[in-house]
Amino acid sequence: MKLITVKNADEMGKYAGDIFAEAIGAKPDIVLGLATGSTPLPLYADLIRRYEAGGLDFSQVRTVNLDEYAGLPGTHEQSYRYFMDENLFRHINIDPANTHVPDGCAENLDDECARYDALIDGFGGIGLQLLGIGRNGHIGFNEPSGAFSKGTQTVLLAEATIEANSRFFADPAEVPRMAITMGIRHIMLARKIVMVAGSEKAGIIDQAVNGEITPLVPASALQMHPDATVILALE
Ligand code: F6R
Repeated sequence: MKLITVKNADEMGKYAGDIFAEAIGAKPDIVLGLATGSTPLPLYADLIRRYEAGGLDFSQVRTVNLDEYAGLPGTHEQSYRYFMDENLFRHINIDPANTHVPDGCAENLDDECARYDALIDGFGGIGLQLLGIGRNGHIGFNEPSGAFSKGTQTVLLAEATIEANSRFFADPAEVPRMAITMGIRHIMLARKIVMVAGSEKAGIIDQAVNGEITPLVPASALQMHPDATVILALE
């Protein structure tokens, strides 16, 4: 696991943007695994800038997002589908049919998890996976627990995650308690992984990169990945 430190969020966006641009250039129909949250925003802004400057073509790119809240339709402003449409997809020439986010409103969430795994397998896996990290070390919504998760699954969100995410909701009681998340298995099968983190995550990044590999710090699994890069912004 390679740890890169950069000055600030802007530099992180550019550094990650270089990796994404190179990967898309090398394989125009690449499958990108994408994340939501505050940290990837400078990367998405960088990708939009590159597209507008004529340097990036998303017409064949396919995307699979890590997670979605259970019970929120894609039209809800706090849903991850809405986040992706607003912060990336509607600004680039990606075919909306090629963008995938778990359906948090599916009638049967277990079936939806199985469908999502089959979708990713049908793509032949993920070429480049973007990750953020929770202060408790979660990746996607794979929260600290006694065992690493495998496939896509429904999860009860940790109190720390509900609290962290309540900043986006008018009323903290509205934060969903349950979500669908891609499991550690498909994340680890991605050919390349880039994790982005701000300075407030320096402590948990240190544990994930240098500490024991344990499901209590889900991001520590990345130590076993052959091509994982963590980009940490220092301010
Ligand atoms: C979101 C996701 C989460 C976030 C993490 C950090 O799709 O997978 O694991 O990456 O909660 O969120 P931010 O970047 O908002 O600190």
